[in-house]
Amino acid sequence: MDMTDFAEVMAQIPAGRLLSRVHDLLVLTDPVDYAGVDQVFPMYPEQPFFLDELRRTDLRGARALEFGLGSGVLSIGTLKAGAARVDALEINPRAKLFAGFNALLNGVADGLCIRDGDRADLWAPVAGERFDFILSNPPFMPSPPGAAEHYFHSGGGGLLGMDFLERILAWLDDHLAVGGRAQFVTAAPGDAELPTALIELLERHLRGAATLVVDPLRLPFDDLAHHLPEGLSAAAMTAATHELQASGISHEYLCVLHYAADAPRGLSVEQCAAHPAWDQPLP
Ligand SMILES: C[S@@+](CC[C@H](N)C(=O)[O-])C[C@H]1O[C@@H](n2cnc3c(N)ncnc32)[C@H](O)[C@@H]1O
Repeated sequence: MDMTDFAEVMAQIPAGRLLSRVHDLLVLTDPVDYAGVDQVFPMYPEQPFFLDELRRTDLRGARALEFGLGSGVLSIGTLKAGAARVDALEINPRAKLFAGFNALLNGVADGLCIRDGDRADLWAPVAGERFDFILSNPPFMPSPPGAAEHYFHSGGGGLLGMDFLERILAWLDDHLAVGGRAQFVTAAPGDAELPTALIELLERHLRGAATLVVDPLRLPFDDLAHHLPEGLSAAAMTAATHELQASGISHEYLCVLHYAADAPRGLSVEQCAAHPAWDQPLP
């Protein structure tokens, strides 16, 4: 589709919706200022980062699983990259609607199987199943005790925003088929050098080979008011800030994690080209 066609499609989109172009994909979402907890996440630099990194993996014929379908952008990119089928879990009914629309718009609806997620037990909907490829952009907003749930896409992360990802990692090896691969994109907290909190999780949970691709543009993490403009009492905010300072966490990094379950255990860290303003929506 060229830019003239794109402008024509844009003109058809009802007010209050956002149609974005991410590489060769068209993705309908809510706008950034949509205020409900059921917001369908708009496009940020993390989506093209994930899609670019997909090129490292041969996905031809793969059966894949996504945690947290949202608009469907990552599942759609996975299908376009050659996967035969993606089973995608989601708890937000509006996201399922948008993702179905986007899959049709991008010509991959036949390969996408949208399934109900489970808030309490992430893996319950796929108990006993194994996949060739598992992907996610997990909710990663810090949400210490007492914080309000801002969005389905950002809640449940704990003080470091990593609880959802940890629940995926803890059972990842048990759900990958022989030769299985995984890829995640996330913002991950750490010290002034590396996303140490994420590295700790990888070392704790994974039995295979992980490669962490880290954006060099680190952002300050220890200003909790930046992540939690509302929803925490002053006392809870002070306690959470002290806990963060004591843990040595000061910055956050945008990362893509590649994982190969049956390669020898290990972790390597690489730097990618910077994604400018990666905490801001794509224009
Ligand atoms: C950060 S968004 C990512 C959305 C999309 N994959 C993207 O990259 O734009 C995380 C998504 O996870 C979904 N989610 C939250 N808890 C979930 C759960 N327990 N099971 C499945 N999906 C969940 C949210 O509703 C949200 O759509």
